[in-house]
Amino acid sequence: MATIRLGDTAPDFTADSSVGTINLYKYLGDSWGILFSHPADFTPVCTTELGTAAKFKGEFDKRNVKMLALSVDGAASHVEWIKDINEVQNTTVNFPILADENRKVADLYDMIHPNADSTLTVRSVFIIAPDKTVKLMLTYPASTGRNFYELLRVVDSLQLTANHKVATPANWENGQDVVVSPSIPTQEAKEIFTKGVEEVKPYLRMTPDPTA
Ligand code: BEZ
Repeated sequence: MATIRLGDTAPDFTADSSVGTINLYKYLGDSWGILFSHPADFTPVCTTELGTAAKFKGEFDKRNVKMLALSVDGAASHVEWIKDINEVQNTTVNFPILADENRKVADLYDMIHPNADSTLTVRSVFIIAPDKTVKLMLTYPASTGRNFYELLRVVDSLQLTANHKVATPANWENGQDVVVSPSIPTQEAKEIFTKGVEEVKPYLRMTPDPTA
Protein backbone atom coordinates (compact mmCIF):
# COMPACT_ATOMS: atom_id res chain seq x y z
CA MET A 1 0.00 0.00 0.00
CA ALA A 2 1.51 3.29 -1.10
CA THR A 3 0.72 6.42 0.87
CA ILE A 4 -1.64 8.76 -0.95
CA ARG A 5 -0.77 12.42 -0.74
CA LEU A 6 -2.36 15.58 -2.09
CA GLY A 7 -1.68 15.95 -5.80
CA ASP A 8 -1.25 12.20 -6.32
CA THR A 9 -3.35 10.38 -8.89
CA ALA A 10 -6.27 8.67 -7.13
CA PRO A 11 -5.77 4.91 -7.52
CA ASP A 12 -8.35 3.35 -9.81
CA PHE A 13 -10.28 0.25 -8.73
CA THR A 14 -13.22 -1.93 -9.61
CA ALA A 15 -15.38 -3.09 -6.70
CA ASP A 16 -18.81 -4.38 -5.79
CA SER A 17 -21.36 -1.91 -4.44
CA SER A 18 -24.97 -1.50 -3.40
CA VAL A 19 -25.82 -0.98 -7.09
CA GLY A 20 -23.47 -3.55 -8.66
CA THR A 21 -19.90 -3.42 -9.90
CA ILE A 22 -18.33 0.03 -10.07
CA ASN A 23 -15.10 1.18 -11.66
CA LEU A 24 -13.96 4.42 -10.05
CA TYR A 25 -12.69 6.16 -13.17
CA LYS A 26 -15.71 5.14 -15.27
CA TYR A 27 -18.05 6.20 -12.46
CA LEU A 28 -16.40 9.60 -12.14
CA GLY A 29 -16.03 10.28 -15.86
CA ASP A 30 -15.11 13.96 -16.18
CA SER A 31 -16.72 14.90 -12.87
CA TRP A 32 -15.24 15.71 -9.50
CA GLY A 33 -15.63 12.92 -6.95
CA ILE A 34 -16.00 12.47 -3.23
CA LEU A 35 -15.02 9.05 -1.92
CA PHE A 36 -15.87 8.62 1.76
CA SER A 37 -15.63 5.63 4.05
CA HIS A 38 -17.58 4.84 7.22
CA PRO A 39 -16.94 2.12 9.80
CA ALA A 40 -19.93 -0.18 9.43
CA ASP A 41 -23.52 -0.67 8.34
CA PHE A 42 -26.31 -0.60 10.95
CA THR A 43 -24.43 1.77 13.25
CA PRO A 44 -25.91 5.01 14.56
CA VAL A 45 -23.50 7.75 13.49
CA CYS A 46 -23.07 6.17 10.06
CA THR A 47 -26.85 6.08 9.65
CA THR A 48 -27.03 9.83 10.26
CA GLU A 49 -24.07 10.48 7.96
CA LEU A 50 -25.39 8.48 5.01
CA GLY A 51 -28.87 9.98 5.38
CA THR A 52 -27.36 13.46 5.51
CA ALA A 53 -25.16 12.70 2.51
CA ALA A 54 -28.27 11.67 0.56
CA LYS A 55 -29.94 14.98 1.42
CA PHE A 56 -26.85 16.86 0.21
CA LYS A 57 -26.65 15.03 -3.13
CA GLY A 58 -28.46 17.84 -4.95
CA GLU A 59 -25.80 20.30 -3.78
CA PHE A 60 -22.97 17.97 -4.81
CA ASP A 61 -24.70 17.48 -8.19
CA LYS A 62 -24.81 21.28 -8.70
CA ARG A 63 -21.05 21.29 -8.22
CA ASN A 64 -20.55 18.33 -10.59
CA VAL A 65 -19.32 16.09 -7.76
CA LYS A 66 -20.17 12.37 -7.82
CA MET A 67 -20.57 10.72 -4.43
CA LEU A 68 -19.25 7.27 -3.52
CA ALA A 69 -19.41 5.78 -0.02
CA LEU A 70 -17.57 2.73 1.27
CA SER A 71 -17.48 0.27 4.12
CA VAL A 72 -16.16 -3.26 4.51
CA ASP A 73 -19.69 -4.71 4.72
CA GLY A 74 -21.20 -6.64 1.83
CA ALA A 75 -23.59 -5.39 -0.83
CA ALA A 76 -26.59 -7.30 0.58
CA SER A 77 -25.98 -5.69 3.97
CA HIS A 78 -25.78 -2.23 2.36
CA VAL A 79 -29.08 -2.80 0.56
CA GLU A 80 -30.81 -3.80 3.82
CA TRP A 81 -29.26 -0.92 5.75
CA ILE A 82 -30.24 1.60 3.05
CA LYS A 83 -33.90 0.74 3.80
CA ASP A 84 -33.32 1.75 7.43
CA ILE A 85 -31.48 4.92 6.46
CA ASN A 86 -34.28 5.94 4.12
CA GLU A 87 -36.84 5.27 6.83
CA VAL A 88 -35.22 6.95 9.81
CA GLN A 89 -33.58 9.81 7.91
CA ASN A 90 -36.63 10.41 5.73
CA THR A 91 -34.59 10.35 2.55
CA THR A 92 -33.53 8.16 -0.36
CA VAL A 93 -29.92 7.06 -0.52
CA ASN A 94 -29.16 7.99 -4.08
CA PHE A 95 -25.47 7.20 -4.51
CA PRO A 96 -23.57 3.88 -4.39
CA ILE A 97 -21.99 2.38 -1.28
CA LEU A 98 -18.94 0.27 -2.13
CA ALA A 99 -18.99 -3.21 -0.58
CA ASP A 100 -15.33 -3.60 0.21
CA GLU A 101 -15.48 -6.93 2.06
CA ASN A 102 -11.95 -7.93 1.03
CA ARG A 103 -10.66 -4.44 2.00
CA LYS A 104 -9.09 -3.94 -1.41
CA VAL A 105 -10.14 -0.30 -1.67
CA ALA A 106 -9.72 0.35 2.05
CA ASP A 107 -6.10 -0.82 1.82
CA LEU A 108 -5.49 1.08 -1.41
CA TYR A 109 -6.68 4.30 0.23
CA ASP A 110 -5.32 3.55 3.73
CA MET A 111 -8.78 3.76 5.29
CA ILE A 112 -8.07 1.24 8.07
CA HIS A 113 -6.04 2.74 10.89
CA PRO A 114 -5.17 -0.29 13.04
CA ASN A 115 -4.48 1.66 16.21
CA ALA A 116 -8.00 3.10 16.00
CA ASP A 117 -9.74 -0.09 14.85
CA SER A 118 -8.07 -3.17 13.40
CA THR A 119 -10.90 -4.17 11.06
CA LEU A 120 -13.22 -1.26 10.32
CA THR A 121 -12.59 1.73 8.10
CA VAL A 122 -12.29 5.14 9.73
CA ARG A 123 -14.23 8.11 8.34
CA SER A 124 -11.95 9.03 5.44
CA VAL A 125 -12.79 11.60 2.77
CA PHE A 126 -11.00 11.98 -0.57
CA ILE A 127 -11.99 14.72 -2.98
CA ILE A 128 -10.84 13.90 -6.50
CA ALA A 129 -10.59 16.45 -9.32
CA PRO A 130 -11.66 15.71 -12.91
CA ASP A 131 -8.00 15.00 -13.79
CA LYS A 132 -8.14 12.25 -11.09
CA THR A 133 -5.72 13.98 -8.75
CA VAL A 134 -6.46 13.95 -5.02
CA LYS A 135 -7.27 17.48 -3.90
CA LEU A 136 -8.31 16.94 -0.30
CA MET A 137 -8.06 14.25 2.36
CA LEU A 138 -9.80 14.25 5.75
CA THR A 139 -9.82 11.57 8.44
CA TYR A 140 -12.37 11.48 11.25
CA PRO A 141 -12.71 8.85 13.99
CA ALA A 142 -15.69 6.54 14.23
CA SER A 143 -17.08 8.57 17.12
CA THR A 144 -17.39 11.83 15.15
CA GLY A 145 -19.84 12.27 12.30
CA ARG A 146 -18.70 14.52 9.51
CA ASN A 147 -20.04 17.98 8.69
CA PHE A 148 -21.40 17.90 5.14
CA TYR A 149 -21.65 21.68 4.99
CA GLU A 150 -17.87 21.69 5.44
CA LEU A 151 -17.47 19.19 2.60
CA LEU A 152 -19.49 21.43 0.30
CA ARG A 153 -17.53 24.47 1.49
CA VAL A 154 -14.22 22.82 0.67
CA VAL A 155 -15.50 21.77 -2.77
CA ASP A 156 -16.42 25.42 -3.40
CA SER A 157 -12.92 26.48 -2.37
CA LEU A 158 -11.22 23.79 -4.47
CA GLN A 159 -13.25 24.64 -7.55
CA LEU A 160 -12.75 28.39 -7.16
CA THR A 161 -9.01 28.15 -6.55
CA ALA A 162 -8.59 25.69 -9.44
CA ASN A 163 -9.76 28.39 -11.85
CA HIS A 164 -8.60 31.66 -10.28
CA LYS A 165 -5.33 32.80 -8.72
CA VAL A 166 -6.84 33.06 -5.27
CA ALA A 167 -6.95 31.18 -1.98
CA THR A 168 -9.78 31.15 0.56
CA PRO A 169 -9.30 32.40 4.13
CA ALA A 170 -10.36 30.83 7.42
CA ASN A 171 -14.08 30.10 7.68
CA TRP A 172 -14.60 31.36 4.13
CA GLU A 173 -18.01 30.73 2.62
CA ASN A 174 -18.96 30.86 -1.05
CA GLY A 175 -19.27 34.47 -2.24
CA GLN A 176 -17.12 36.05 0.46
CA ASP A 177 -13.88 37.93 -0.19
CA VAL A 178 -10.85 35.81 -1.04
CA VAL A 179 -7.08 36.10 -0.68
CA VAL A 180 -4.93 36.94 -3.71
CA SER A 181 -2.40 34.16 -4.35
CA PRO A 182 0.94 35.07 -2.72
CA SER A 183 2.76 34.50 -6.04
CA ILE A 184 1.04 37.49 -7.69
CA PRO A 185 2.59 40.96 -7.13
CA THR A 186 0.01 43.50 -5.93
CA GLN A 187 0.29 45.65 -9.09
CA GLU A 188 -0.45 42.62 -11.27
CA ALA A 189 -3.27 41.57 -8.91
CA LYS A 190 -4.92 44.96 -9.46
CA GLU A 191 -4.93 44.32 -13.19
CA ILE A 192 -6.33 40.79 -12.85
CA PHE A 193 -8.94 41.43 -10.16
CA THR A 194 -10.95 44.31 -11.56
CA LYS A 195 -13.36 44.32 -8.61
CA GLY A 196 -10.52 45.75 -6.51
CA VAL A 197 -7.64 44.62 -4.33
CA GLU A 198 -7.16 45.71 -0.72
CA GLU A 199 -3.57 45.44 0.49
CA VAL A 200 -3.91 44.72 4.22
CA LYS A 201 -0.22 43.75 4.35
CA PRO A 202 2.12 43.26 1.39
CA TYR A 203 1.56 39.51 1.82
CA LEU A 204 -2.19 39.71 2.59
CA ARG A 205 -4.25 41.08 -0.27
CA MET A 206 -8.04 40.64 -0.34
CA THR A 207 -10.33 40.79 -3.35
CA PRO A 208 -14.03 40.09 -3.88
CA ASP A 209 -14.86 36.58 -5.07
CA PRO A 210 -14.14 36.87 -8.83
CA THR A 211 -17.13 34.66 -9.65
CA ALA A 212 -19.71 36.35 -7.40
C1 BEZ B 1 -21.36 4.71 14.45
O1 BEZ B 1 -21.50 4.89 13.26
O2 BEZ B 1 -22.19 5.10 15.26
C2 BEZ B 1 -20.16 4.02 14.96
C3 BEZ B 1 -19.53 3.06 14.19
C4 BEZ B 1 -18.43 2.40 14.69
C5 BEZ B 1 -17.95 2.72 15.95
C6 BEZ B 1 -18.58 3.70 16.69
C7 BEZ B 1 -19.68 4.35 16.20
